[in-house]
Amino acid sequence: METLNVLALSGSLRKNSYNSAVINALKILAPDHVEVEVGEIGDLPLFNPDRENEKIASLENLKAALKASSGLVLATPEYAHGISGPLKNALDWLVSSLEFPYKPIMLINTSPRASHAQAHLREVLTTMSGRIVEEACVSIPLLSSGLDSDGIVNDKDIASVLQVAFKAFCDDIQACR
Ligand SMILES: Cc1cc2nc3c(=O)[nH]c(=O)nc-3n(C[C@H](O)[C@H](O)[C@H](O)COP(=O)(O)O)c2cc1C
Repeated sequence: METLNVLALSGSLRKNSYNSAVINALKILAPDHVEVEVGEIGDLPLFNPDRENEKIASLENLKAALKASSGLVLATPEYAHGISGPLKNALDWLVSSLEFPYKPIMLINTSPRASHAQAHLREVLTTMSGRIVEEACVSIPLLSSGLDSDGIVNDKDIASVLQVAFKAFCDDIQACR
């Protein structure tokens, strides 16, 4: 079977982040033919349109990873009813990129009460012409669970929800090729 490359980004820079944990768990849970690359957004400079034509190594890496991927997985915390600053910053850098439009997107919400950030994220992604794959969007109650990526992988119920959603994501990508 042809290998599928997927880029996954966490909107949290926190060491013990649930959003990063779920992204790392997805990498472990992914089927053999799917390679999940965990991208880095914490080293991007603050977005400045004046710098869009500069060669910025962290941005070049992110764009290259996005170009090489057939889909994008996003997990973000909610801060003050919006998405995280680091994720918004990364998305702002990608607004005028050729790699982003029509990219299939899976959303993982690690806190079901955080509905504002999800609505905000959907608005931003839709404006950027991303293609949110609804069957692949999941809400998993990780807040206060104490689970790290291994804990998520070993939690049968959570792992199963992630795997079912990720399969729907990969099936959608392959069907649309
Ligand atoms: C400054 C700050 C603001 C927050 N605002 C909200 C909020 O508006 N709504 C919410 O549901 N959670 C809010 N939270 C809780 C975070 O979304 C939650 O701790 C989340 O797990 C952080 O993600 P992480 O574990 O991936 O770092 C806030 C946390 C912080 C530190």
